[in-house]
Amino acid sequence: MFFSSKHFEFSDIPDLSGKVAIITGSNTGIGKICATEMARKNCQVIVASRSEDKGQAAVAEIKSITGNDNVEFIKLDLLSLKSVKQFAEEFKSKYDKLHILLNNAGVMMCPYGLSEDGMQMKFTIYRLRIETQFATNHVAHYYLTMLLLPTLIDSKPSRIVNVSSDGHNYTCISEPNLDKINAKEGYGSFKQYSYTKAFNILVCVELTKRLKAKGIENVYVNANHPGLVKTELARHISLFESFYVRFVLNNIAMEPEQGALTQMYLATSQEVESKNIKGQYYVPYAKPSSAVAYARSEKNAAALYDFTEELLKEKVPDYQGAPI
Ligand SMILES: NC(=O)c1ccc[n+]([C@@H]2O[C@H](COP(=O)([O-])OP(=O)(O)OC[C@H]3O[C@@H](n4cnc5c(N)ncnc54)[C@H](OP(=O)(O)O)[C@@H]3O)[C@@H](O)[C@H]2O)c1
Repeated sequence: MFFSSKHFEFSDIPDLSGKVAIITGSNTGIGKICATEMARKNCQVIVASRSEDKGQAAVAEIKSITGNDNVEFIKLDLLSLKSVKQFAEEFKSKYDKLHILLNNAGVMMCPYGLSEDGMQMKFTIYRLRIETQFATNHVAHYYLTMLLLPTLIDSKPSRIVNVSSDGHNYTCISEPNLDKINAKEGYGSFKQYSYTKAFNILVCVELTKRLKAKGIENVYVNANHPGLVKTELARHISLFESFYVRFVLNNIAMEPEQGALTQMYLATSQEVESKNIKGQYYVPYAKPSSAVAYARSEKNAAALYDFTEELLKEKVPDYQGAPI
């Protein structure tokens, strides 16, 4: 719709024979289109979704559309760190390579809620559980990425794509206070979404820096905004909130096929390697852009990394810490 010409089409996706890809939240929406297009190019695709019924239905549909039988469902519920660990263990027991991790799943503008994690008592009440959007969009994907990073490094060249949103622009108006990120007091559903989408970009900034410091080349970590896309994302918005956002996403936004192009570019295009695209933020259609100052800041990226590490060590007693 409002974006410039297409720099990348599905026909530009190279042959992905021998490649293994995980796409979170690929039972519907933009993620399902990505899984389908990668399967069409002969990729081994893992549909990582929380619902077995929806995940298996997507697998059957993708197999029948593409004729590729190498499409598998593995259960992943991002609202449970235990489920994230089980997913990673099951994946690693079946596959020894991972070339593409597409952290696509997300929720937007949910009413305040908490994930199932973290019953340990701490001095601060805010640490008791993890807020739903923060848990799904950031913490669980961060944990998943850390559990799979050694396999991604072993499989290089490899890619990590974090699906962010231009909603992160709101951090120009209000920046998050990490110490209060799980608090009910002061919670705003859009504000929280915007924070978590800025975190998706900050993780790319910090991971890219750490990979470089370790001399690890050929692991390409980037973030993107898919565009305003007609999907089920608006289902979490309460009926009394943001009629405008629901109307746009349900009616006049772009089709999921268009929304998938930018992340497909970052996940598969040879240009990412030939142009050494790392730690960047891309917008439709497959064009470089600049995230807002909060989400570009190396200081904020390091602070978020440390905060998330501490949170995971608290919630997951056997967490070994980030591999890099
Ligand atoms: N649509 C847009 O206009 C737009 C704009 C900017 C950014 N984005 C981003 O694009 C990404 C894809 O969104 P979409 O538009 O395709 O939305 P969607 O149709 O709602 O799909 C979201 C996917 O995430 C999954 N998911 C949600 N919570 C999960 C959990 N706890 N565990 C595992 N999977 C979970 C959903 O699974 P269930 O079906 O089980 O809920 C679904 O498969 C999101 O990160 C979103 O923030 C979208």
